[in-house]
Amino acid sequence: MGVKEAYDRWARLYDDNDNRTRDLNRQCLRQAGLPLTGGRVFEAGCGTGLNTEYLAGHADHVVAMDFSEGMLERARRRVESSSVRFESGDITQAWPVEDASCDLVVITLVLEHIDNLGRVLAQARRVLNGNGLLYVAELHPYRQLIGKQARFTPEGSEREELVPTWRHSISEYVSSAMGVGLVLRGMAEPRAEGDEVPRLLQLWMSPSFKPDA
Ligand SMILES: C[S@@+](CC[C@H](N)C(=O)[O-])C[C@H]1O[C@@H](n2cnc3c(N)ncnc32)[C@H](O)[C@@H]1O
Repeated sequence: MGVKEAYDRWARLYDDNDNRTRDLNRQCLRQAGLPLTGGRVFEAGCGTGLNTEYLAGHADHVVAMDFSEGMLERARRRVESSSVRFESGDITQAWPVEDASCDLVVITLVLEHIDNLGRVLAQARRVLNGNGLLYVAELHPYRQLIGKQARFTPEGSEREELVPTWRHSISEYVSSAMGVGLVLRGMAEPRAEGDEVPRLLQLWMSPSFKPDA
């Protein structure tokens, strides 16, 4: 099963499953100090819109993209706002927004499903303006090393299914970003209560040069 098919099958259950990583990510995004007011946001891999709803409540305009129609359908139902545009598509391909048109790009719990980070990060760099910010929050690589990854039990089945994933080290995130003209501005490794190993890797990045400076 590919990533897209897995999320199509997971979509109906995704919001209600016990999922401490989803819940911590949701909480961390709201505390991440993102520059939302008056901003134009691109959310890559928006899923069921759990975070799109929050982003839309604070920013001027949000474009939210995902390739799973099942996840998007739920997002569209959750967020009915004229300031949000949902797009169906693969985030490893060209994003449907102009160069330098965004103040903020948000990518959360998506990059473990992407083999080539550079392709996605290059799109983030392209659409960000010179003062823009890329916020990334992903399952921490340490957790991947102890065997954690996105998984779900389909309706009517007893068997857990694994969603295909790739492992990326912290240095791979940072060097892939540097390779496309982004620099690291901040990093955190939050845990949920009782976690021995960090659950999330949060990265704040910005363009490494301002073309008009
Ligand atoms: C774990 S969910 C996270 C959803 C949301 N960002 C959140 O934090 O709640 C991962 C999402 O990434 C999407 N995704 C994974 N690979 C993708 C790709 N190449 N193009 C578009 N969406 C992708 C999946 O369809 C799924 O909706």
